[in-house]
Amino acid sequence: MKLTVVGGGSTYTPELIDGFARLRDTLPIEELVLVDPAAERLELVGGLARRIFARQGHGGRIVTTSDLDAGVEGADAVLLQLRVGGQAARQQDETWPLECGCIGQETTGAGGLAKALRTVPVVLDIAERVRRANPNAWIIDFTNPVGIVTRALLQAGHKAVGLCNVAIGFQRKFANLLGVTPSEIHLDHLGLNHLTWETAVRLGGPEGENVLPKLLGEHGDTIAADLKLPPALLDRLGGVVPSYYLRYYYAHDEVVRELGTKPSRAAEVAAMEKQLLEMYGDPALDEKPELLAKRGGAYYSEAAVDLAAALLGGGGNPYQVVNTYNGGTLPFLPDDAVIEVQAAVGAHGPVPMPLPDVDPLFAGLVANVTAYEELALEAALRGGRDRVFRALLAHPLVGQYEYADALTDRLIAHNREHLAWA
Ligand code: G6P
Ligand code: MN
Repeated sequence: MKLTVVGGGSTYTPELIDGFARLRDTLPIEELVLVDPAAERLELVGGLARRIFARQGHGGRIVTTSDLDAGVEGADAVLLQLRVGGQAARQQDETWPLECGCIGQETTGAGGLAKALRTVPVVLDIAERVRRANPNAWIIDFTNPVGIVTRALLQAGHKAVGLCNVAIGFQRKFANLLGVTPSEIHLDHLGLNHLTWETAVRLGGPEGENVLPKLLGEHGDTIAADLKLPPALLDRLGGVVPSYYLRYYYAHDEVVRELGTKPSRAAEVAAMEKQLLEMYGDPALDEKPELLAKRGGAYYSEAAVDLAAALLGGGGNPYQVVNTYNGGTLPFLPDDAVIEVQAAVGAHGPVPMPLPDVDPLFAGLVANVTAYEELALEAALRGGRDRVFRALLAHPLVGQYEYADALTDRLIAHNREHLAWA
């Protein structure tokens, strides 16, 4: 099996390599190609990747290249984990929306729109080249904003699935709290990428007993504290667990105040990346460093292994939370919306599992953000100030024309070099 990682020079890559090494029985990789335009960084990361494989006795070959077309040639699956404009662009996304009293975040709100506009054209170009090299290859998209990017890929007819680590993070956390193994936990996880709720936690299988009421009864305070939300709010939402991205909605103004008083996440991450790259250059290092655990991507390697294994017809958990076409799963959304839910995954791709009726408290927000995502994708594909404005006006965290205008001007001013039409 040959796997290619586009954005393979990311400081996150050792996390992925560690998962590939540990879980090699599930995903037997013969050749792993790391593709990245940043050649120097790629060599540092590639060197550590080879040492991790060697230490763990993985016989697979690791190739590094800056030539995308050569890198994807013959790949069975291609993982996309890139960041157009790097942490510097992220720093912008997290900063200018604050000037308008809006949250500055890399996937939610106006910052997320900026990221979508920069990213969609680049990802579509890569996907075309993957298709040319091997029309049967699966594309696994980690590139944010995952919902919009996956919709762009599916709409262009690519064999793509979007992936995020929020669900697998909850699965691991709940398993820990309940004292069971993660594979026993099945989540009724619904919504859009970075806009989801866990509405049931089932034991043993997708039809298993719902232990969420018990879990919240015993550990509600811990779960709420991790989300920085009041425990009573989880009860008032009907006894569900929202993802931490919902805090940007349920506590928007509080988060804006907080963000104004501390350095941006981009700045924190840039400092960590500098340290990580120094560590990766040490020939004695042959495992992923502890520091990597301070990044938000915990367990993403395990989600990637499971998904690639299931798509390529091997083992892996058949039930996984992924981003894919709605196709009637959430009846209040268009069929071609991209949703994030548990699906049965096989060689043919993901098939969403049926879900109980959705509380209007969640359905309303999901429908609103779906409409925003549709407009965001249109702006990313076709450009133009008006399309950016329409997407922002539709966003539930923006909504007013004066804000939408001010944010549109800033978005364009800060991203001109990445927007072909601006
Ligand atoms: C979580 C999200 C990812 C996001 C990451 C950011 O893992 O699911 O989509 O990229 O957090 O982590 P960072 O360490 O870069 O802030
Ligand atoms: Mn994510």
